[in-house]
Amino acid sequence: MDKLIVEGGVPLRGAVEVSGSKNSLLPILAATLLTRERCVLKNAPDLRDTVSMLKLLRYLGVAYEFKDHTISLRPNGLERYEAPYKLVATMRASFCVLGPLLARYRKARVSLPGGCIIGVRPVDLHLKGLSKLGAGIQIKEGYVIAEARRLRGAHIYLGGSFGSSVLATGNVMMAATLASGTTVIENAACEPEVVDLARFLMKMGAKIKGEGSPYLEITGVKELHGAEYEVIPDRIEAATLIMAAGVTRGEVLVKKARAEHMMAVLEKLQDAGMNFKIMRDAVLVKKTSRRFKPTDVVTLPYPGFPTDVQAQFMTLMSVSDGISVITEKIYPDRFMHVAELNRMGAQVKREGPYAVVHGIRCLSGAPVMASDLRASAALVLAGLVARGKTEVSRIYHLDRGYERLEEKLKALGAKIERVKE
Ligand code: UD1
Repeated sequence: MDKLIVEGGVPLRGAVEVSGSKNSLLPILAATLLTRERCVLKNAPDLRDTVSMLKLLRYLGVAYEFKDHTISLRPNGLERYEAPYKLVATMRASFCVLGPLLARYRKARVSLPGGCIIGVRPVDLHLKGLSKLGAGIQIKEGYVIAEARRLRGAHIYLGGSFGSSVLATGNVMMAATLASGTTVIENAACEPEVVDLARFLMKMGAKIKGEGSPYLEITGVKELHGAEYEVIPDRIEAATLIMAAGVTRGEVLVKKARAEHMMAVLEKLQDAGMNFKIMRDAVLVKKTSRRFKPTDVVTLPYPGFPTDVQAQFMTLMSVSDGISVITEKIYPDRFMHVAELNRMGAQVKREGPYAVVHGIRCLSGAPVMASDLRASAALVLAGLVARGKTEVSRIYHLDRGYERLEEKLKALGAKIERVKE
């Protein structure tokens, strides 16, 4: 297992480029199961999650080549319609093969994703949407077994107690592309990654209207063809890099940062007093000389503040000049990073879905443990700003979603090393 050793206190300087979006790529990879023809995906991030999804596709019978951020896939002769536990347990996005397999084979057997460190993550909305399309669904021995003689368009309300669901919207939208008639998804997720998936499906010949709005309309077609597509840059990585620059009082040009995909984050960073300029396809972080102002944040579905940036924002607020309240409305238990930040001297108190952050002048380096993907990023940011040495262990979480983060930070002057534990 690898860990990262970070020596804090160096202001980052230079330019860095954001990789392709993980959360766009994974469902798009699942969508290639909908065709017999070749698909080519560009700007694919080279991540552990990408490899896991490709492993699953290979198991299902898809041949692929992954080189220089381009994946060519030939899903001509699918061999199986089952996604086994060992391939789904490591990554929830693999559950997204359910919709495409059902649409293509009329049957699918996909392992339930299971528990997750960031809290309970049910799949009821996925199943509700697919059963509305006419699928018979059973749960047996930890697997979802879905069958349908034919899928029929339906009017589906896809909201749950926590609002819309990104992957459920994707799963149902993918299945609906090959259903007969028109499907309406109300309370569809509006995340840029859902729009990206819809655009890829449209390139394959799907008929979709309303992507990016809560009202999606999909008219089924007989078949989909192959397509070439470039995935959008990763807005979560972009936000993380912008915050890394800001928190170290650095000056960094974050290239391929699409401001229009992260207005809620940029707005909060501005409220906190971070100095930056929005450019075309980039954000230029300028030196912030004062301490950050305390800033409250509530995570919400897009276009609200993303839950995937909550942990990183907490690191910023832990060195702010006052008290901030962070409210987690998507995953009320997503606070595993609190205890680790506190080990570095932060003063954060959690009460249910709220975290009250008392900003202090400086964090101090410590050995900490990454618990999940975004928490790992928060700890790396904390290490960059802390006095002394921080060791972040279990960074396999980080490798799931950030492409060579330590190399990107090192190129900006950070003192950071990956070592074997
Ligand atoms: C996706 C992202 C993840 C992000 C999350 C929320 C991918 C690969 N992952 O995950 O990084 O943190 O969106 O923006 O794109 N829910 C239900 N029933 C369901 C499905 C979800 O109640 O059937 C709840 C969840 O528990 C959560 C909320 O809905 O409270 C939103 O989750 P959802 O949008 O589904 O997250 P994912 O799509 O799994």
